[in-house]
Amino acid sequence: MDQTDEFVHSYDDEAEATGWLGPEIAFGLTYAFVKPGQSLLDIGIGTGLGSILFRKAGLEIHGMDISPQMLDACRSKGFMSLHLHDLCKTPYPFDGKSMDHAVCCGVLQFFSNLSPVFQEAGRILKKGGLFVFIVGDRQENGASSIEVGAEHTQSDRTVTMYMHSVEQIAEWMALNGFEPVRNMPFTVFMDREKIHGLPARCYLARKRMG
Ligand SMILES: C[S@@+](CC[C@H](N)C(=O)[O-])C[C@H]1O[C@@H](n2cnc3c(N)ncnc32)[C@H](O)[C@@H]1O
Repeated sequence: MDQTDEFVHSYDDEAEATGWLGPEIAFGLTYAFVKPGQSLLDIGIGTGLGSILFRKAGLEIHGMDISPQMLDACRSKGFMSLHLHDLCKTPYPFDGKSMDHAVCCGVLQFFSNLSPVFQEAGRILKKGGLFVFIVGDRQENGASSIEVGAEHTQSDRTVTMYMHSVEQIAEWMALNGFEPVRNMPFTVFMDREKIHGLPARCYLARKRMG
């Protein structure tokens, strides 16, 4: 995916201006269970926002993203272990049971089928490892996707955003060896005025020991 320079350079400022709290929420649900020196894979690391707090907490960050431009921006912040890879293509370039934990913030709403991500997180994480991730939160009887207009995508095109229900996520977790730990609903705003919001949910799951 080729991101424009403008998109990449303004990404962090837009995230701040629209009140993107995904990284803080993901870290907040997880920090009590992680230790300095442990490894963490960030799936769709972008400019590194979802990993910065984990790095501050002493974790060793490994990132994967489909956009070379986003990875360059991430590298400029001192993240060194970065891999250009499409999360829809399995296997990911990491050995089985090679990571302590994984994070995926602000990415899964772009995909209807989350199987590759859960399957690979389940393969790559060590037993007991944590997977913290954010999805568009499908409400009871709510739509499974929405079209977000160009005025809110910082681009010249409409983007489909997918919503997944608590039941769908529970099924993917169970199928891939994860047990739920906790989750929290919140709103992702798409504009600086904070008028247009998408329901989202952050989940913390643990790879089963058995
Ligand atoms: C909205 S940004 C989120 C970045 C960061 N995780 C954060 O919390 O701010 C979405 C990221 O997902 C990446 N992405 C989108 N599709 C992808 C794919 N198929 N494989 C890997 N990364 C992808 C984009 O390049 C972008 O860096």
